[in-house]
Amino acid sequence: MPLLAIQGCQWGDEGKGKITDYFASKADVVVRSQGGNNAGHSIVHHGKRFALRSLPSGILSSKVTNVIANGCVVNPSSLLEEIKGLQENGIKDFKLLISSRAQIIMPYHIDLDKAKEIALGNSKIGTTGRGIGPCYEDKASRLGLRLGDLLEKDYLRERLSETLIIKNMQLKMYNLPPYDFETLYQSLLELGEKLRPYITDTSYFLNKCIKEKKKILFEGAQGGMLCLDHGTYPYVTSSSPLATAIPLNAGIPFNAIDDVVGLVKAYTSRVGEGPFPSELFGDIATTLRDRGHEYGTVTKRPRRVGWLDTQELKYIKSVTGITHIALMLLDVMSFTDKINICIGYELDGKKIDYMPSTISECERIKPIYEQVDSWKEDISNVTRYEDLPINAKKYIQEIERLTGFEVCIISVGPDKDQTIIRKEIF
Ligand code: GDP
Ligand code: IMO
Ligand code: MG
Repeated sequence: MPLLAIQGCQWGDEGKGKITDYFASKADVVVRSQGGNNAGHSIVHHGKRFALRSLPSGILSSKVTNVIANGCVVNPSSLLEEIKGLQENGIKDFKLLISSRAQIIMPYHIDLDKAKEIALGNSKIGTTGRGIGPCYEDKASRLGLRLGDLLEKDYLRERLSETLIIKNMQLKMYNLPPYDFETLYQSLLELGEKLRPYITDTSYFLNKCIKEKKKILFEGAQGGMLCLDHGTYPYVTSSSPLATAIPLNAGIPFNAIDDVVGLVKAYTSRVGEGPFPSELFGDIATTLRDRGHEYGTVTKRPRRVGWLDTQELKYIKSVTGITHIALMLLDVMSFTDKINICIGYELDGKKIDYMPSTISECERIKPIYEQVDSWKEDISNVTRYEDLPINAKKYIQEIERLTGFEVCIISVGPDKDQTIIRKEIF
């Protein structure tokens, strides 16, 4: 399949970085098409751990061209820091292209993100505080600046002077200090010069690659349940992590993508606020969190953890059409006698077989569980499906039966070698 997309099917952190890096050796191009440095993708590459935020996870493979496409939001200074971090770790020979149409995360977006969260108090979203929401807000209200604007001195001056008047009024509303036009303008020009070698029309580039039958991998960010439209709104991010949004966010034909693989953790995790029907608390949650090292890559926040929720997965399947998945972090489950699987929900005492569309209903749903036997053997060195403990295989088969997904990849550790392939897809 020349064009493969990877999509998180839960609330993010499903292991997209690991799988992208795994497939990167076979790819010509790796693309990030939405989100920004709210993402945190951990990769163990030749024994070294890398945490990428905006950079696509193909960046560690020197032959791959990495693309940050138009649907992304980019914080120029954070991106330059990320690039510097790579160079300090000996990764100097990389290929990167950034869309001239991608939106710029401005310093005031970060201020507004944080101020809004404080103003919301108990109703806060629990954002990553990276300015993602306010940046996408400006995109939609046509107040945003784009990467390409940094290269047009006169236009940038005109555009920034117009937008800054409005942004400073908004900052005033939150009792925040205004930005000085000239200082901000000069710093943007400097950042633009540093990023100039990477900025281009990535849609044009990708369409050329498609014509030349290059192998392109679309690395998702966040997860389906954080989708602005189909997630647990308002406790979502401000873009769509669904693979169906990729053509728009990358500027390629709607039917160009050949295949999508969904990424599913063998349990569930969530960072930030919002409904989480199968959430666990107490000792079992602590064990699961520690075994899975469930602490945010970006914010270091302890992640909320819970059982696998197949009702949630069926919902994501229905809004995306995904048919097969990579089951990630299965090794983390080797610790208990019994595993619960959420197989449906109860809403106000009635069994339901759908994901409610309102947040108040989502907050009222109670999970219905089925219990299966677990295994305690360490599976982190297993390389063949046949060699997994019988109960691990039964768990996989039960997930397939309940969701209708085919499990084509099983991940049993953060390293590339800790990957069991049941079906070649790329
Ligand atoms: P992403 O945001 O989807 O890329 O996921 P993150 O990198 O935020 O979180 C996934 C974490 O799990 C990272 O620390 C990975 O190194 C780690 N990881 C990925 N796959 C596996 C796996 O199969 N087993 C274990 N134990 N860890 C894994
Ligand atoms: P990756 O790509 C997990 C969550 C935040 C918050 C909500 C809104 O690593 O899977 P935002 O800063 O985007 O406005 O925050 O979305 N969130 C993520 N949770 N993984 C991520 O990315 C996330 N990106 C955003 O915690 O609840
Ligand atoms: Mg992550």
